[in-house]
Amino acid sequence: MGNIVILTGAGISAESGMGTFRDADGLWTQYSIEDVATPGGFARNPGLVHDFYNIRRIRAAEAQPNAAHRALTRLQAEWPGPVTIVTQNVDGLHEKAGSDGVLHMHGELAGALCQGCDHRWPAPPDMSVTLACPSCGAARTRPDVVWFGEIPYHMAEIAGLLDSADIFASVGTSGQVYPAAAFVQQAREAGAHTIELNLDPSDIAHDFDEVSTGLASQVVPAWVDDMLAGAAGGQAAQADPERPVT
Ligand code: OAD
Repeated sequence: MGNIVILTGAGISAESGMGTFRDADGLWTQYSIEDVATPGGFARNPGLVHDFYNIRRIRAAEAQPNAAHRALTRLQAEWPGPVTIVTQNVDGLHEKAGSDGVLHMHGELAGALCQGCDHRWPAPPDMSVTLACPSCGAARTRPDVVWFGEIPYHMAEIAGLLDSADIFASVGTSGQVYPAAAFVQQAREAGAHTIELNLDPSDIAHDFDEVSTGLASQVVPAWVDDMLAGAAGGQAAQADPERPVT
């Protein structure tokens, strides 16, 4: 069976209470990207940036995965081939739902990173400008998240996955942030069937072979059910070539 690559964004966690970025009540209507999500913003006012991520870290620690996260975990467990989740989310909800091998291209709220020696360690709930690196002792620590102007994590591995993808699904992302917004084109060039699952068609919906709109908690489990039913039908047909596949 084919390789599945799934890209997720803030929309998959919206029903877990994590909030999105660009919807009417999104985070970027309340905060300036330049102030809280760029290296320059952190250099100017690290306290403000720590406060922004501390609030989100505490909210993520309290949040529970929803039916969409759990459906992707079920797909990973039951699909007869590799299923890799690549997420732009920093909330850790895929892992809480039991998913394995998630590639966090924008880092994780649960991580701290030393700007002095690149040491990484689990972030305390409240990070601050006085927090010292446990390895080198420098008080130059930052959330281990990727900011605008920085290169997302795991890009070489993701490129390899897209090159060998048979199915590419994009869940709950607006398609406004690159490089993630270009993954659908990479997957299509590699011959993958592509599907978008989102509340409304995104700005790049026309790049997909199929678009399914609705709440992630509804459309993702429905898609996973279809995929697994199709796989079971295919396997049954292989086991018994006389049996018609419906
Ligand atoms: P956005 O806020 O840009 O987009 C969220 C998408 O989810 C929108 O298309 C919504 O319509 C959709 N959506 C909202 N609620 C939904 C629901 N219940 N079910 C399904 N879809 C829903 O968030 P992202 O695309 O994830 O980067 O944003 C990408 C990156 O931009 C983030 O990782 C972050 C941000 O700036 C950095 O901070 C570097």
